[in-house]
Amino acid sequence: MKVGIIGSGGREHAICHSLKKSKKIREIYCFPGNAGTSKIAKNIDINLNDLNKLKEFITSEKIELVVVGPEKPLVEGIVDFFEKNNIKTFGPNKIASQLEGSKIFTKKICEKYNIPTAKFGIFNNSQDAILFTNKTKFPLVVKADGLASGKGVYICENKNEADNSIKEIFDGKFGEAKNILIEEFLKGEEMSYFVVSDGKTIKSFQTAQDHKRVLEGDKGKNTGGMGAYSPSRLINDELEKKILKKIINPTIKGLSDMGSVYKGFLYAGLMIINNEPYLIEYNVRMGDPECQTILPKLKSDLFEIIYASCNENLLNTKIEWHDKKSLCIVLCSKGYPEEYKKNVPIKNIDKITLDKNDYCYHAGTKELNGEVYSVGGRVLNFVSLSDSFRECRNVIFDKIKILNWNEGFYRKDIGYKVIDE
Ligand code: AMP
Ligand code: GLY
Repeated sequence: MKVGIIGSGGREHAICHSLKKSKKIREIYCFPGNAGTSKIAKNIDINLNDLNKLKEFITSEKIELVVVGPEKPLVEGIVDFFEKNNIKTFGPNKIASQLEGSKIFTKKICEKYNIPTAKFGIFNNSQDAILFTNKTKFPLVVKADGLASGKGVYICENKNEADNSIKEIFDGKFGEAKNILIEEFLKGEEMSYFVVSDGKTIKSFQTAQDHKRVLEGDKGKNTGGMGAYSPSRLINDELEKKILKKIINPTIKGLSDMGSVYKGFLYAGLMIINNEPYLIEYNVRMGDPECQTILPKLKSDLFEIIYASCNENLLNTKIEWHDKKSLCIVLCSKGYPEEYKKNVPIKNIDKITLDKNDYCYHAGTKELNGEVYSVGGRVLNFVSLSDSFRECRNVIFDKIKILNWNEGFYRKDIGYKVIDE
């Protein structure tokens, strides 16, 4: 079968790499892909906003299944469009994608189905929101409703910070804001919990913890993710049962009561407080770099899982995992998440040898005349599997040292909670 993948990050290279192992797949097309995917798939440069052109290419090449990596096309309804045109697509439809596309949509489901989450208020103008901050405790959390590439969340230590963030959001920093969300600050430890769903059956797809901040010690600006490890140190059977019973199952029921089903990966960002889960946010896709960290642990055929999800057959599909620790370090362009140079050659990348348990997934890279250049903020993802997180990290450090790329940087403390504490 021919398969298409939408996206160009480390997550999509990892998906491509895992799908490539399936005997059922003849050819993979990446829209648009990166230098890493170009080695194992065909990169196709079509503007992702041009859905008709994408559809024409997919139909004319007889691509039978499309996997959507990032949130933006999902929230904009790419799945509904493809399915209307008889293209089998893995990912949630537009209604279900509101779980990530609108934080207020998710909060309303939480309220209706009694899903544990931070207490919250919704405000449709800055005056009322600012009045509210006169009589609340700090810290509190102010959030833009829609997609904001991880930047629409403000943890506010005092009224001044809260009022400024309210003004920024209503002034349109993340697009037109009809409503704003103000939340209680939850104090605990975060964990990401993943499932795959076919609309009827849900199966666990591992846990992870990412490091979102740019600087060591989890300080500095928010990024897409500087590294991750799997499993989370917090997971246990009792907690997993609670997550499914109190959070995931009622969410899927809430969608089904609205006449929608959930097909695809679902990523719950949780705060764990005394072994009790609270929902912070949903993402309607795999995380990046959590995906790069989790997929190397998968023993089963990823294609079979995805195909079964599209055919409501997940119940009969086994998902098996290697019992290993996995850690991922993301190499970024100096300056990220702010301004950075583009088109910088990454030398010596061909000198890195990868053993059975080591992976190097590309993100913002392109290939020109046999050389790899950085073209994005997050550029390469090094992953290693082993029996200890410390060993994973040391193996990765040794690989990165081989590179000759002065314009790159990475966090040396990824996984510090499971390695150094
Ligand atoms: P989100 O984009 O909703 O995941 O928020 C980004 C980050 O802000 C999360 O990963 C948390 O670290 C933090 N955060 C969001 N909401 C809360 C909350 N209610 N309490 C504490 N931290 C939060
Ligand atoms: N690593 C965070 C995310 O994918 O949203």
